[in-house]
Amino acid sequence: MTKDEHVTAAASAPEAVVAARNLVKIFRDFWHRPKVHAVADISFDIRRGEVFGLLGPNGSGKSTTIKMMLGLLHPSAGHLDVLGRSPRDVQTKARLGYLPEESYLYPYLTPAETLHFFGRLFGLSRSDREARIEQLLDMIGLLHARNRTVGEFSKGMARRVGLAQALINDPDLIVLDEPTSGLDPLGCRQVKNLIQTLARRGKTVVLSSHLLADVEDVCDRIAILYNGRIQAMGAMHDLLEQRNRYRLTLPEDVPPDTLRQMLAQARELLGQEPDVDHPRVDLEQFFLRIIEQARGQVHTPSGTAPTKDIAAYLATQGEVPSASAPETDAKASAEEKLKHLTEPKDPTAT
Ligand SMILES: Nc1ncnc2c1ncn2[C@@H]1O[C@H](COP(=O)(O)OP(=O)(O)OP(=O)(O)O)[C@@H](O)[C@H]1O
Ligand SMILES: [Mg+2]
Repeated sequence: MTKDEHVTAAASAPEAVVAARNLVKIFRDFWHRPKVHAVADISFDIRRGEVFGLLGPNGSGKSTTIKMMLGLLHPSAGHLDVLGRSPRDVQTKARLGYLPEESYLYPYLTPAETLHFFGRLFGLSRSDREARIEQLLDMIGLLHARNRTVGEFSKGMARRVGLAQALINDPDLIVLDEPTSGLDPLGCRQVKNLIQTLARRGKTVVLSSHLLADVEDVCDRIAILYNGRIQAMGAMHDLLEQRNRYRLTLPEDVPPDTLRQMLAQARELLGQEPDVDHPRVDLEQFFLRIIEQARGQVHTPSGTAPTKDIAAYLATQGEVPSASAPETDAKASAEEKLKHLTEPKDPTAT
């Protein structure tokens, strides 16, 4: 099957990109005695175009699950299908991109040499490699550092090279083990935008992270692992929305008298004091605005300086509808929003 046929097949197939059934991974000691039950009987599906997050404390089995999905570890029991085949299948591997927990890069190669090396492993022609590498280096903000060796890069700069490496083969399934670890807030935002763009283009993204705010920003569904077992799994909005509570947001500069009257009425109707406070911009938005202003005053950056959020070749496939919940129209009336909020939930949905 050619790459294009793969894309067409994937585009018409709503089925799971990853299907795990009763997966188990037991690490054994030298004498083959069970040492650690790293993953203990987990089942999940990940669908095309979805961003799926694996969460859990240290040692809960996230990386082990990811490595089984990549065919790097063999499950002790259970069944695992990735892109319709075994994860160990060579054809599956050609359609995977992987950013490991720790990127192992050759310290004496430049970023472009590193990417050429991996591009050759996937059998990409020189002209394809050159075009993609140029776009990737721009996307990760390292065009200006192209002649420096990776060994002298900061942690975040090296992480960006690892990310570009995971994308050189234009994969259909991208597996990112803690993608934002070591990145500055600008890099985090960029990686999150990239993940969302990739998902909109029909790619499937699986990530693990300890940074809950990042996970909340980008994931459609999550699974929380503890002790090798899934403790909770579902769509982000189903898990987090408090459907029996409501929050009203008033327009800017409501006159104090109006507010006082509203509160008095609310107090009377509810029989208790409602909560009132000022909304805050989140720190990420604030930080990005400050850096954007500072950037206008610096001409020779010493770190990273991307001009494009996504490499053009990664952004060429047709958009697919988001796998997440239907977005609430900003212009929808409050009643319509409430209707959506109070619709009964399908108890069988995961
Ligand atoms: N190669 C290995 N040999 C033996 N035990 C292992 C091996 N790899 C992982 N483990 C064990 O399996 C368990 C799960 O580890 P895993 O790396 O999957 O956790 P994790 O959720 O990714 O944690 P972290 O958040 O620290 O990255 C741990 O107890 C770990 O010690
Ligand atoms: Mg890990």
